[in-house]
Amino acid sequence: MKRLLILLIFNVQCSIFNVLFAQSEVPAPHNIFARDVTSLNGDWHYFADPQEQGYYDYRMNKTRWGYFLDAKPQRPSDLIEYSFDKSPTMRVPGDWSTQDPMLYLYEGTVWYRRTFDLPPAPSKGGGDDRVLLYFGAVNYEAIVFLNGKELGRHVGGFTPFCYDVTDVLRKGQNTLVVKVDNKRHADNVPTRVFDWWNYGGITRDVLLVRVRDTYIEDYTLQMASKQLQGVAFSVSLNRGVEGREITLSIPELKVRKTLKTDAEGHASLTLPKLKPQLWSPDNPKLYKVTISLDDQTISDEVGFRVIETRGRELLLNGKPIFLKGICMHDESAYTSHRITTKAEADTLLSWAKAIGCNFIRLAHYPHNELTVREAERQGILLWEEIPVYWTISWDNPQTLDNARRQLTDLIRRDHNRCATIIWSIANETPHSDARDRFLSALASHARSLDNTRLISMAMEVTSASNYVNRLHDNMHQYVDVVSFNQYVGWYRDVADAPKMTWEVPYEKPVIVSEFGGGALAGMHGAEDQRWTEEFQARVYRENLEMLSKIQGLAGTCPWVLKDFRSPRRLLPGIQDHFNRKGVVSDQGKRKQAFQVLHDWYNKK
Ligand code: GCU
Repeated sequence: MKRLLILLIFNVQCSIFNVLFAQSEVPAPHNIFARDVTSLNGDWHYFADPQEQGYYDYRMNKTRWGYFLDAKPQRPSDLIEYSFDKSPTMRVPGDWSTQDPMLYLYEGTVWYRRTFDLPPAPSKGGGDDRVLLYFGAVNYEAIVFLNGKELGRHVGGFTPFCYDVTDVLRKGQNTLVVKVDNKRHADNVPTRVFDWWNYGGITRDVLLVRVRDTYIEDYTLQMASKQLQGVAFSVSLNRGVEGREITLSIPELKVRKTLKTDAEGHASLTLPKLKPQLWSPDNPKLYKVTISLDDQTISDEVGFRVIETRGRELLLNGKPIFLKGICMHDESAYTSHRITTKAEADTLLSWAKAIGCNFIRLAHYPHNELTVREAERQGILLWEEIPVYWTISWDNPQTLDNARRQLTDLIRRDHNRCATIIWSIANETPHSDARDRFLSALASHARSLDNTRLISMAMEVTSASNYVNRLHDNMHQYVDVVSFNQYVGWYRDVADAPKMTWEVPYEKPVIVSEFGGGALAGMHGAEDQRWTEEFQARVYRENLEMLSKIQGLAGTCPWVLKDFRSPRRLLPGIQDHFNRKGVVSDQGKRKQAFQVLHDWYNKK
């Protein structure tokens, strides 16, 4: 009996242990690049596993090796039917779609492996160091294993996630295996259909982060109110520890303040008299900031600005501003793959600046943090967005949790980035009560996390009666800025834009978050000849003329900066898996519409 009891207790302990291990996910520390990181980027071995036998077979009947064990034959007779060592390598970060022709259209599971030695602890480290494993993004689902142990499963292809691996790491060589699955599902976010390439893979940085047992997990530094003076600072530790001393320093503003954490590990202060130089597109002023806890110091560069609405006006630092925008995917110029370097982000931002833009809509999902920080340095305002796109499963609570989690992680990552002025919760979602319930929950969740930025979403206007287009969307009551997409001149009412009028019956600023049309760069002909640059240029000319009459127009965001890959764009010789609505081709060739937009913005 006694033996049985001991066995029972042991089993209970194991299952609790396993649950704890499976739940080793921790919030990704804010401003990750300022931490004590060791990069695991580089060449990782990989192979595709379309039937996911390396996971489900193992789970179900244990007759085969789970690929995450990275098993090697011990005896000549051993049967192992996979080998990371003998498999090819691909670059991480980087999507698989453009690194291996066999994976261009592939949607399924790819297994990745890399081995690494535990980086030496810094001499001053002391025994209480912890090590976190950080992923910048994996599209779409990741199951992460370290030394054969499953750390956890993460869904959502565009936001960071993190595990505490302190107790799983080994001295000497460690084996990190990631199962990545980019299959589309109706209940995912985004759902099964979307007009961009389903780039699979470990698309952003993989880092080991060394932290102390108690570390600064998050902080906020921004204007304290809508006044143009006064700065608020708050900081949160990773655990509830009272009395720990935090120092905030902004040397250029002669600020050096010390504060103590409360029982929840939080501390905050306001400097009501502080009058920093305000960040704006004309003066993208950033301040060097350090935040420290004992010997742990985090450096950041922070801009201070105020964004608000007044009736139908959008005010930046108390002055009306018109958002001269453009939409952009997270896809590099020339090579058309997921952006992984600052240079790739820079190229696209420089194209937007050449148009005369002061605003970019980062469509339709959270972009690389490099792009956000580069835009901030260059004075480009941003609209950031989660991929609640088209026909989401509005009635599925897991889908809402997924969307809410992606929104939380986006805001957690970028809430100190002053360039970001809008959180967008949806794109072109069909009207329904279920959709309104889903989206209003997201809008209030965004406000609960960050009540300093504006909430919007791209509504859709699909028709006109006797040339009058009316925007009618219940969601107007939940957003601060009313935005909508329309394609007069391309998908409907070709050549009718000059006759069109618009009614937006909401006392809020209006952004036209998409409009435009396609053209193959270098194709010329009459203005009514589809796919010529002349046709696209006319769509731009007539739309800009039509939209400028909208009362309360606070911004325009034509679709799209650069031709981008989409499996929905099949016309041979014209599209060839590219959406051709760019004002610049994927090879950097400016189309006539580029000049039309440039001239209109420069007159603004
Ligand atoms: C839609 C959608 C975009 C899409 C564009 C198009 O409005 O929001 O993601 O690429 O129209 O049809 O080209």
